[in-house]
Amino acid sequence: MVFETVGVVGLGTMGAGIAEVFARAGIRVVGVEADQEALDRGLGHLEASTGRALEKGRLSAGEREEILSRVTLTTSRDDLRDADLVVEAIPEVMEYKVALFTDLDRICKPSAVLATNTSSLQVTALAAATGRPGRVVGMHFFNPAPVMGLVEVVGTVVTEPGVVTSVSDLAVRLGKTPVAVGDRAGFVVNRLLLPYLNHAVTLLDHGVAARDDIDNAMRLGVGLPMGPFSLLDLIGLDTSYEIMGVLFEESRSERHVPSPLLRSYVAAGWLGRKSGRGFYGES
Ligand code: CAA
Repeated sequence: MVFETVGVVGLGTMGAGIAEVFARAGIRVVGVEADQEALDRGLGHLEASTGRALEKGRLSAGEREEILSRVTLTTSRDDLRDADLVVEAIPEVMEYKVALFTDLDRICKPSAVLATNTSSLQVTALAAATGRPGRVVGMHFFNPAPVMGLVEVVGTVVTEPGVVTSVSDLAVRLGKTPVAVGDRAGFVVNRLLLPYLNHAVTLLDHGVAARDDIDNAMRLGVGLPMGPFSLLDLIGLDTSYEIMGVLFEESRSERHVPSPLLRSYVAAGWLGRKSGRGFYGES
């Protein structure tokens, strides 16, 4: 399988980061958003991220130009007709994703692989919405996508084994390490990470320790790059809450009950960096 042109649908923080990763690896990218305003925001993410790399001397001005020139931005999904792979990174709403996969199945050439960056929804259900379930996989990147070294490649019971191998090889070409995982709630990383983050919120809620002390404890005591509250703000409190909900739904285990304090923050609109306030103020 040759991946020379890749589509990315949804250019929020994750989608724009994913588009950048492909473009940096020399792959042509067609980035799709719903409207011009969202497309402009996506371009803003790409420009800011590559601009930061330029400032830090990790990219020359010429390299940055080349990367940006590999990305074509459009509001028309029909422009994905020649893509060898499409990665979906739209909001985590099953109904929207099923509609998108149905559409992609109609638009994209039969050999194209359709991938989802979902962190919480069932990949098998998206595969079943298409006429090519064997060519649908999860390709789960981590935030910030240009920096984090892992891609979870999610195969379902109907995925053709060669597709998982090809997508894993592609992840290597992107400079990432792929891990093959089954289609179970949270895959590997979120299944282990989110209960820990949720538990940190419970400790805070129960007054065991203050926010900064818990963050410092995990940063300095365990050597993590970020404490749990900084990381929750980066991931998004709404996303974190949703993932806990999905873990609970599958396991029905007490250890996956989402923290009521997390629920309150989400209800208040304190979603982390994306809303300007989460466990930290102006983050
Ligand atoms: N986009 C592009 N590059 C970025 C970036 C971004 N958003 N944020 C940071 N970087 C780059 C910087 O340019 C810098 O590059 P150089 O070292 O080459 O100069 C490098 O990353 C380090 O950045 P900083 O020096 O600014 O800051 P830092 O050392 O504190 O690192 C961090 C920032 C990479 C985010 C680090 O704190 C970290 O690894 N945090 C943990 C992140 C994590 O766990 N992510 C996974 C979340 S779970 C998930 O995503 C799955 C899900 O489904 C919810």
